[in-house]
Amino acid sequence: MNITEHKNISYKQPGKFEETRFEKIHNVIFEASKEPSILIAQEIAQLIRDKELQNKPCVLGLATGSSPIKVYEELVRLHNEEGLSFANVITFNLDEYYPMDKSNLQSYFFFMHEHLFNHVDILAENINIPNGKVNSDDLYQYCIDYEMKIKAFGGLDFQLLGIGRTGHIGFNEPGSHHNSGTRSITLDHITRVDAASAFLGIANVPRKAITMGIGTVMSAKRIVLLAWGANKAEIVKETIEGKITSEVPATYLQQHDNVSFILDEAAASELTRVKTPWLVTSCVWNGPLKLKAVVWLSELLNKPILKLTDKDYNNNGMSGLLTEEGTAYDLNTKMFNKLQQTITGWPGGKPNADDSRRPERAIPERKRVLIFSPHPDDDVISMGGTFDRLVEQGHDVHIAYQTSGNIAVSDEEALKFAEITQSICPNCEVTKSIINFLKIKTDNDIDSSEVRRLKGLIRRSESIAATRYLNLSDDKVNFLDLPFYETGTVKKNILAENDITMMCDIIDRIKPHQIYAAGDLADPHGTHKVCLDALFEALKILKQNDYMTDCWVWLYRGAWHEWESYQIEMAVPMSPDQVLKKRHAIFYHQSQKDGVMFQGGDSREFWVRAEDRNRLTAQKYNNLGLADYAAIEAFKRYHF
Ligand code: F6R
Repeated sequence: MNITEHKNISYKQPGKFEETRFEKIHNVIFEASKEPSILIAQEIAQLIRDKELQNKPCVLGLATGSSPIKVYEELVRLHNEEGLSFANVITFNLDEYYPMDKSNLQSYFFFMHEHLFNHVDILAENINIPNGKVNSDDLYQYCIDYEMKIKAFGGLDFQLLGIGRTGHIGFNEPGSHHNSGTRSITLDHITRVDAASAFLGIANVPRKAITMGIGTVMSAKRIVLLAWGANKAEIVKETIEGKITSEVPATYLQQHDNVSFILDEAAASELTRVKTPWLVTSCVWNGPLKLKAVVWLSELLNKPILKLTDKDYNNNGMSGLLTEEGTAYDLNTKMFNKLQQTITGWPGGKPNADDSRRPERAIPERKRVLIFSPHPDDDVISMGGTFDRLVEQGHDVHIAYQTSGNIAVSDEEALKFAEITQSICPNCEVTKSIINFLKIKTDNDIDSSEVRRLKGLIRRSESIAATRYLNLSDDKVNFLDLPFYETGTVKKNILAENDITMMCDIIDRIKPHQIYAAGDLADPHGTHKVCLDALFEALKILKQNDYMTDCWVWLYRGAWHEWESYQIEMAVPMSPDQVLKKRHAIFYHQSQKDGVMFQGGDSREFWVRAEDRNRLTAQKYNNLGLADYAAIEAFKRYHF
């Protein structure tokens, strides 16, 4: 089935229906990336087969990056299990870093072979990827030849795209001309920041690249752009709803007559029809939508909820809601109370209190609590205040660090510890070998298992110091070191049975009444998302057990985003002293201070981000008319 015939699409032309009137590009929204990736792979496979029947080559334009990975996985599966042949396929990749050696782990040449070409029967001479090693004197002509070669094959039949946060497609950064061809380009700072984790630091990211042009991409007969995750939401909205501008090169796609954007819910979350559906059409007003709309209106008008008037609602597309609810006064009070009831200083439930309007149950008074932390610091960064309260209020708290976090420890930090060990124990062979390895290590080397172990141990000792500071005994601290993470590189293995078994084992051992986990889907290198998937899989397996009916799951967000105010179901306020205590707990994670390796696009240190974020949540609650707290940690319940 072609994606344009998919059940989610009731229209082919963008903007044809009221709901999509702000949109200038056809798009389809899916819950998650897996299903649409399979559909797109099937569309490509169909094209390959159709061309084969016509005895013609199938010319594909391909992208790298995280977005198309599942499409390539499915193409490989179709090849292995359903006999899809790539013998008639000719590929042209969008881009390559410059300079860049093919053998480099970060090269797009390496990426494409690892994810697709090594696993299918494509002929080596049919693979075209810009050569990152071409001599600078020959570069200009090389790019013209690349362009001409595409034309010589009759142009691209299908172009797969991702989108960068700058609005780039390929590496056509802001400023690119609509009829640009293949050329060399200087990478935008944001693009380099986004690539920094793959290169273990921004300093190692090349400044230049070779890219197909906008004109090259636009001449493809069919274009599909994939965007997953909250990080892409803003740029997706700008591209689909904004004016065509060279400042957002992807907006040129508005002029293509056979393009589809395939989005997951997080990437689509800023589209007008998703974010504020009442502005585009009449809505079915359920409870969560009412709260979302009222919070939105209060924030838009900068007025506390209790001061919103009938006129405010009528002027902002919500007269239908008022008709259902009676008066602004009634609606305001209802929504205000709903938010008010999310606030609790008793995250484990308040003993002997009427809990009918509280986020957590009063019984059992002493709960078994299991906090999952993807890396060995997310617990204190994201919920240090709540963690502290749970321990203080007498609950039986356990921590499980899901991954070792070893790749986020710098070589300098590891060397420091190795040298200290050597001073104490001069004849230790392991220490000697670690020191020798680190001294000669080059950018392309993957850490030896000993170095990885040392880096993991550094993070363990930091975590133990932080949990001791929060009065948790060491026997309550678990390090799972999930195997999917232990590759020694940024690229991780896919979740396997033993990862899920380890998750099940710890839940089964503790039989928790509460589980806390990172619901953060915007983690730049995806570990949080994989850790969450591991939890969801474990919950699916365990949910038949009696003890699980008593288990509530609360999701906190990691270091990058916070829940929107209307999504919060438990808001745990912190006093100024508790904010300081949380800061100190974060300080124990010394290897993650000052210019940490995987900082993402935000140069603030983790403790600053955490404080800013918790202060902002409190500020937002206060602006809505609720009490004025110093800081708030926020949670959303996950029903399984
Ligand atoms: C990759 C490319 C880029 C990426 C874009 C999104 O060949 O040309 O435009 O598609 O940067 O990257 P991911 O998919 O990693 O978010």
